[in-house]
Amino acid sequence: MIDVGIDAAEIWTGKLKLDLAETFAPEKGDDPGKYTKGLGLYESSFPDTYEDIVTMGANASKRLMERNDLEPDDIGRIDVATESSFDNSKPISTYIAGCLEQTFDGDFHHANKGERKFACVAGTQAIDDAYNWIRAGRNRGRAAIVVATDTALYARGDPGEATQGAGAVAMLISEDPSLVTLSDEQGYGSADETDFLKPNQQFPSVDGKRSVQVYLARMREAVEDYESVAGEIHPDDFVYAPFHTPFPGMVRKAALLAYRHITRDTEIEEALAEQIGMQPREAEFDDEETFLDAVSDYTDELKETTRYQEWYEATIDPTLDIARHVGNWYTGSVHVARLAALKRAHEAGRDMTDERLFVASYGSGAQAEVHHETVQEGWKEEITQLNIDEQVEARYDLDFAEYETVHDAHDHSKDRDYEEFTAPDAEFVFDGWGRMGERK
Ligand code: CAA
Repeated sequence: MIDVGIDAAEIWTGKLKLDLAETFAPEKGDDPGKYTKGLGLYESSFPDTYEDIVTMGANASKRLMERNDLEPDDIGRIDVATESSFDNSKPISTYIAGCLEQTFDGDFHHANKGERKFACVAGTQAIDDAYNWIRAGRNRGRAAIVVATDTALYARGDPGEATQGAGAVAMLISEDPSLVTLSDEQGYGSADETDFLKPNQQFPSVDGKRSVQVYLARMREAVEDYESVAGEIHPDDFVYAPFHTPFPGMVRKAALLAYRHITRDTEIEEALAEQIGMQPREAEFDDEETFLDAVSDYTDELKETTRYQEWYEATIDPTLDIARHVGNWYTGSVHVARLAALKRAHEAGRDMTDERLFVASYGSGAQAEVHHETVQEGWKEEITQLNIDEQVEARYDLDFAEYETVHDAHDHSKDRDYEEFTAPDAEFVFDGWGRMGERK
């Protein structure tokens, strides 16, 4: 069976930043610690007024193709994952392909284009579709481009406003990839949920507290389902575990529960059995709240232990390096987390070849998916190419009034004629709905 996975990746951040501690917290009358310590977020990225999901996705894809010396003829599939689409008919991939055709020789008339939607898990689902397409032998030697692109905005005043963000991740999916191969085994936890939804509206209706519980419940099911096909897993089986990161504080909660589940430590199990009055692996709970209540005393103690803290620092913390400074990118978020971890490994001089990652994706509505990935020999060259640090550093720092202007500029119900805060540099820019051009 051929190995299929991610061959190359590019990250494109929105060019503006909102500093949560310095700019957002004072306006909201909040202690900055709520954002930096509680949510684990320092800054959020926002698109400039000439950027949107198409331009960010197209700019990331352009760089991906140029860097890998690719022409349209090498690509047989372009899939976009987004929950920020402005078009209910034409997929965003057609807009992105249209941009790319302005730059490269040839066109994508032969390519299968689509759009995947299942909140934030859609990016991983689009990778799965490309994986299956290649594995089925329908790709005729061509690779797929998967773009996860979102402008994650909440209505002003919504508690989610602190967790906004915007950016795109473009990934090349191919046979014998340079970065990671994907496992055949996957685990799912999926249910019809209404804690986060956008029925015919741009900004989500969110029950934030419940959304946290739904994330944890579906993730628990997905880990159990994964073990039913891949066998028991243990904390040291994986060097890093990138999770979907709406904000790092969410990952702190999910990682703690996952660790509890996969330690299989008899001492832990006995203490927990005593606390909840039954064997935890056999216990059934009415809902996640009851489960979380039952295990809370135990997990409160667990997170103070040295072995948990060492595992968290080594396995989870590196995955959050970028998210802390860019916020939630919805579909791109778990893919940013994977790259952040590999970047940290590279900076630490660690050899990751043949090491395993445990990748945990999640989308509201709701579905969690987990699988593992094996890092390939070419990973270091790929990671060296990332310039996300320079992009993050170069962002324009918005004051609060400017932030409100930018929020309005990206509100689909409002006029889009606003000042630009940065100058585009040989990149695709928004030029009116459905008209994206390259401005030199
Ligand atoms: N110092 C340190 N910590 C502080 C603090 C301070 N001064 N003040 C508050 N905190 C802590 C709180 O204790 C809390 O931590 P814990 O959850 O560990 O207790 C944390 O900071 C946040 O404070 P609040 O719970 O009071 O924050 P909030 O209620 O205003 O908002 C939220 C939190 C509901 C998650 C909100 O950000 C939200 O609605 N976000 C959007 C929905 C979301 O992201 N849900 C995540 C799961 S769904 C998903 O993952 C899909 C997706 O991408 C959207």
